[in-house]
Amino acid sequence: MKRIFTLAVSCFALIAFAPAALSQVPDDNVKGLEAWSKIHDVFSHPRCASCHVSDGRPMWMGNGDTKPIKHPMFVGGNPDNHTGQPGAMCSTCHAPVNSAIEGGPPGAEVWLLAPKEMAWFGKSSAQICEQIKDPARNGGKTLAEVASHIKNDELVHSGWNPTPGREAAPYSIDATYDYFNAWIEAGAPCPAGE
Ligand code: HEC
Ligand code: HEC
Repeated sequence: MKRIFTLAVSCFALIAFAPAALSQVPDDNVKGLEAWSKIHDVFSHPRCASCHVSDGRPMWMGNGDTKPIKHPMFVGGNPDNHTGQPGAMCSTCHAPVNSAIEGGPPGAEVWLLAPKEMAWFGKSSAQICEQIKDPARNGGKTLAEVASHIKNDELVHSGWNPTPGREAAPYSIDATYDYFNAWIEAGAPCPAGE
């Protein structure tokens, strides 16, 4: 008798909750992928991707330019060196604050390239998405820590505070932080594809 009762209860549980659980997953996935697409708009924007390269050479992309070029003036070239080479250290030209004139260098207290494992330039949305979730390639961070990096890091913020003549990254710091958290809450899904 007890066994039949348990069976009845679990059947009821299955009927009552299974459809809800099933319908939730695709919903979350759609919401998560929408949030990721906004995040990707930001990450792939030149104000961000120009520093997230794998060959040690930052990129330049001015307003009106049709494609990005490698940073002129023989800057960088060693994928393991993020601060520039002697005689052309990033900080030689990049001051703690933005240059006020068009064509002048943008600035921050510490201006350097992202580590090569964190390269986004030239990668697909799916690749960047998988990589940002991989602690071996995101600086050993949890996704919550990546979110707070977006919220608090000065170099990230430079993307929304460009020098004159450069376009800012889309949305805003707060909006991007919110998209990132919405993506985490939806289970951090990645788009299909290479
Ligand atoms: C010899 C001077 C010099 C050195 C050294 C230098 N930069 Fe620059 N950098 C500039 C100038 C000038 C600009 C502004 C270009 C413009 O606005 O047209 C610039 C712009 C940039 C930009 C913005 C490009 C864009 O389109 O958003 C990035 C990113 C950058 N530099 C990264 C670096 C990094 C990283 C290093 C060190 C590895 C470095 N730079 C070393 C002079 C330099
Ligand atoms: C001047 C170069 C520079 C620019 C511009 C820049 N970053 Fe980065 N980024 C870095 C460096 C350096 C690190 C590594 C920091 C660390 O490990 O603490 C990094 C790390 C990150 C990380 C951490 C983890 C990971 O997996 O990549 C995120 C997220 C990030 N940047 C987002 C952005 C966004 C968003 C923008 C544009 C709005 C941006 N960055 C613009 C240099 C830059």
